[in-house]
Amino acid sequence: MIKLKTKENQGMRWSALSLPLSVLLLSFLLFKFFHLKSQSPPSTPRLFTPEELALYNGSDPNLPILLGIIGSVFDVTKGKSHYGAGGGYNHFAGRDASRAFVSGNFTGDGLTDSLRDLSSTEVKSIVDWRDFYFRTYTFVGKLVGRYYDSDGNSTKYLKGAEAKAARGAQLLEKQKNEEAKIPSCNSRWSQDEGSEVWCDDGYPRLVQRPVEIAITGKMSKRCACFKKDELDQQGLEVYEGCDYFASKCKL
Ligand code: HEM
Ligand SMILES: *[C@@H]1O[C@H](CO)[C@@H](O)[C@H](O)[C@H]1NC(C)=O
Ligand SMILES: *[C@@H]1O[C@H](CO)[C@@H](O)[C@H](O)[C@H]1NC(C)=O
Repeated sequence: MIKLKTKENQGMRWSALSLPLSVLLLSFLLFKFFHLKSQSPPSTPRLFTPEELALYNGSDPNLPILLGIIGSVFDVTKGKSHYGAGGGYNHFAGRDASRAFVSGNFTGDGLTDSLRDLSSTEVKSIVDWRDFYFRTYTFVGKLVGRYYDSDGNSTKYLKGAEAKAARGAQLLEKQKNEEAKIPSCNSRWSQDEGSEVWCDDGYPRLVQRPVEIAITGKMSKRCACFKKDELDQQGLEVYEGCDYFASKCKL
């Protein structure tokens, strides 16, 4: 008698709790499901052919603007002012012009996805651009061609480019550590004075960077400050029109 009553009570208590509990559980699962669904990219990204991608070059105002870089395709519609018709970077839209991200050549054969003969740091720079698009825009799929096959798998070219970029990253890291040993010049620019470089301690010299580091002409040299007893080493260039022992040089 007592046992039965207890069982009945427990049963009552359970069913009284079970409805709100199941509602809670269900809504949690539903939330999780939709949350994950909206967070993770689709498990099978869309595959584009070059011809398909070309439709999204910004010339049709009703279509999104897409851009390919080393085979990854991004929706860059929110950057319409750059990539849309008449935008300064419209040549990147509707195609994979990976090479132009380092060459700056937006004409004719310059608009290619071939990275042939680029240095490891140049390839690293292009991979950095791809990271920028991942951070800034929406990834929408892969371009079938040089970097992805028709199954959407990476090709040997993509693996090769990523390996080369990793070597470029190592090289840049090593160079950064080397350069940290010799302080860079201070520099300033003003309307009246123009450009000038100076050293608080030591003498300004231009030093050539290794060719594989020098992505662009601008990056090929840097100004560093050398002590008096270091000035005789090879490869140090005195600024044109600047005295050998001047601590400040106008450019
Ligand atoms: C190799 C050469 C170059 C390449 C590949 C390049 C590429 C790009 C790209 C793709 C963007 C758009 C980024 C985005 O989606 O927000 C951009 C923006 C910009 N670029 Fe370049 N660029 C180059 C050279 C230059 C030069 C020489 C200048 C200036 C003298 C310059 C000035 C700018 C400015 C100011 C923006 C930002 C515009 C804005 O946000 O409204 N770029 N660049
Ligand atoms: C761009 O690339 C093409 C093909 O490689 C070349 O013929 C042209 O001279 C280049 N233009 C510039 C401005 O570098
Ligand atoms: C290529 O993709 C398919 C799925 O489309 C997969 O089954 C296969 O293992 C992949 N091949 C390689 C070499 O990764």
